Amino acid sequence: MHIIAVIGTGAMGAGIAQLCAQAGFNVRLYDVQAGAAHKARDRLAQVFETLAGKGRLTPGDVTQALANLQVSVSLKELHDCDLVIEAIVEKLDVKQAVFKELEQIVRADCLLASNTSSLSITAIAQGCQRPSRVAGLHFFNPVPLMKVVEVIAGLETDNAVIEQLMTWVNQLGHWPVRCHDTPGFIINHAGRAYGTEALAILGERVAPVQVVDRVLREAMGFRMGPFELFDLTGLDVSHPVMESIFEQYYQDPRYRPSVLTRQMLNGGRLGRKSARGFYSYPRSEEAQQPLVRPTCNPPVWIGAQEPEDHRALANWLAGQGITLDNASIPGADSLCLLAPYGLDACGAAQAFGTDPARTLCIDMLPGIERHRTLMRTPVTHTHLCDFALALFANDTVGASLIEDSLGFICQRVMAAIVNLACDMAQQGIATPADIDRAVQLGLGYPSGPLAWGDALGAARVLNIVQRMAETSHDPRYRPSSWLRRRVGLGCSLGFERSAC
Ligand code: NAI
Repeated sequence: MHIIAVIGTGAMGAGIAQLCAQAGFNVRLYDVQAGAAHKARDRLAQVFETLAGKGRLTPGDVTQALANLQVSVSLKELHDCDLVIEAIVEKLDVKQAVFKELEQIVRADCLLASNTSSLSITAIAQGCQRPSRVAGLHFFNPVPLMKVVEVIAGLETDNAVIEQLMTWVNQLGHWPVRCHDTPGFIINHAGRAYGTEALAILGERVAPVQVVDRVLREAMGFRMGPFELFDLTGLDVSHPVMESIFEQYYQDPRYRPSVLTRQMLNGGRLGRKSARGFYSYPRSEEAQQPLVRPTCNPPVWIGAQEPEDHRALANWLAGQGITLDNASIPGADSLCLLAPYGLDACGAAQAFGTDPARTLCIDMLPGIERHRTLMRTPVTHTHLCDFALALFANDTVGASLIEDSLGFICQRVMAAIVNLACDMAQQGIATPADIDRAVQLGLGYPSGPLAWGDALGAARVLNIVQRMAETSHDPRYRPSSWLRRRVGLGCSLGFERSAC
């Protein structure tokens, strides 16, 4: 493929054109708005100069890249293109009309691709004479930096078309990932779990946004907390995507959006772009949870679901000079420190037979050396909470205290991410390896969700969602069959039949 047309020269079209021009392809820019394509070319000329200033392009590269960009003033000028990439307004009828018109202009072997992020490729191709040459090429913003591109096959797309596009994306220096035409494709689909579970946590008043963000950054290694991310993207973008995927999956509770973001959207609290979202901007120094000087120093009785958590807690507490209560039943003055999975503090107190007023739980999913989350029952004595928070925050690793929650913060968010990725693997939206790589590159997670599930312990993840589903009766948490089967077989979450 030599000549590439980019239709729509807004944020995405301009980025795609830049990438193609720098990779040496001949690019035709077209936009329905008069002058928009010329403006985009001028902006790109400045971008090339800036890159040259930083030493990323030579003066020769700049001249060549700019020469590669030509403006077309009518669709008819695109008759000799090998590939047309549409990046226009996200409206199905408008996209369908453009594709239909293009078919009258381009050669029979010209490929037609849409950069849509939420519409069905099959639906866009509907009405085309040759839907077999229509595919999705989903780039991410900013295009030159986001190295992943979803290559999407609609129902009628020819496999040879997908192969050609995969090869072409490689030539751009980006990483193509093949996927089926399903709502949200891979990355926007997989990304539903992080935000919606965080919103569920906030909706249950488990912890304020600052605490949820901090816990997920410091304990699990996410670059941004979910509420920081919502504010960056803007709720005018994020909330409709949540609603759209929920509706497209026929209101499957897995994707349930939150009334919180709908209300904020209605109230114009969009995030950074409106100076107010979950945070106010410019963002002020965050107040940490205040540490109160403890008024007691009780012995600690440990109740852990997993022996290794018991050992880790006992060693750590002994290192802090804490007296351990090693009796089989906690003494009358002891703090009962429990390490459950998938339970709330009330459920854990019941399971371990401890007094809820003296019970605190700790999330051991991230281990003891990362940000510690302590969870209290509605009746845990305040002086015991103060004691535990001061104790667990007394080194360089932070600690947070949260209200009762099935699965703390990390357990339920991580379980939601892994469980959803398992569903996606089960549906065959993409291969397990592609799901992992696409999510890591597209969402910037420290690991792909399936590999992460293996690292956290797939059996643990299953245990968390099973208990959450049993206790809450919310089908949102039903375990994925992919997860349940692989835990039962003792094989990795990346295992698929074709690997036998
Ligand atoms: P944008 O609003 O920045 O640019 C759209 C451009 O298309 C405008 O210049 C507009 O004049 C032009 N346009 C509208 N109708 C047209 C038509 N019938 N023919 C020719 N040009 C037309 O939009 P943006 O953000 O660049 O999005 C474009 C597409 O890319 C959408 O489908 C969007 O869902 C998708 N996308 C957007 C991402 C983002 O982060 N903005 C990420 C990935 C995909």
